[in-house]
Amino acid sequence: MPADLSRIPAPSAPSAGYRPDGWTRLHVVLHWLVVALVAVQFVDKGSMEALFDATFEGHAISGTDAVLGWAHIVCGSAILAAMAVRLVDRVLVGRPAYDPAEPAAAVWLARATHGLLYAVLLAMPALGLLAWITGLESYADLHTALWTPLLVLLGLHVVGALVQHLVFKTNALRNMTSLKRRAQ
Ligand code: HEM
Ligand code: HEM
Repeated sequence: MPADLSRIPAPSAPSAGYRPDGWTRLHVVLHWLVVALVAVQFVDKGSMEALFDATFEGHAISGTDAVLGWAHIVCGSAILAAMAVRLVDRVLVGRPAYDPAEPAAAVWLARATHGLLYAVLLAMPALGLLAWITGLESYADLHTALWTPLLVLLGLHVVGALVQHLVFKTNALRNMTSLKRRAQ
């Protein structure tokens, strides 16, 4: 029988581990920087494939593909660094409490989605770097295979953020878009 998630208490009220004054500014800035960098990866991913083939199979490559391919490496490595810093910030400093207006099942779905987003956005660039350093197709295939799961998670995440804002009317989106912090 599936677990009744509504019976599991959501970590809602302010308590130990939750920051009373919202996300750190660093976390908010890195969140939106990663959004921009993932958008760049969407544009330059085909050029990275061309650069990989040119480097390890000796194919010709255009100047545009070479520049965009290197942009893929630089932006992807920046995503790895940003997600690692966010994870450390999150573990050491914490996050704002979930709004009590949000149903427990929605909170647990959000927690699962966030956890998987961290995992994919750390694993994907790490596998990309391994593919680039070793030239092995097996790493490149694993790297590429994570793209569709990432898109699914992002779709779920964005729908979740909009539902929180428009349906549950919580402060989640305002917290993630504001650099102003309440005094502690
Ligand atoms: C989160 C960051 C990253 C994302 C979302 C991402 C996404 C992708 C995607 C979707 C492809 C497939 C391209 C296609 O089939 O047209 C690809 C290819 C590739 N990426 Fe990344 N990438 C990231 C970071 C990196 C990093 C840091 C490197 C390091 C060098 C890298 C190296 C590669 C390589 C070598 C390929 C070619 C694989 C092949 O031709 O089979 N990626 N990337
Ligand atoms: C590449 C795209 C995105 C990625 C990788 C991403 C990733 C994440 C992650 C991992 C968290 C959890 C933070 C934590 O618990 O430490 C988060 C939180 C959040 N994101 Fe995103 N996000 C993306 C796009 C967006 C977009 C487009 C929106 C707005 C529509 C958004 C709104 C939010 C909000 C409101 C939160 C806080 C949720 C809460 O308080 O429970 N994100 N994001």
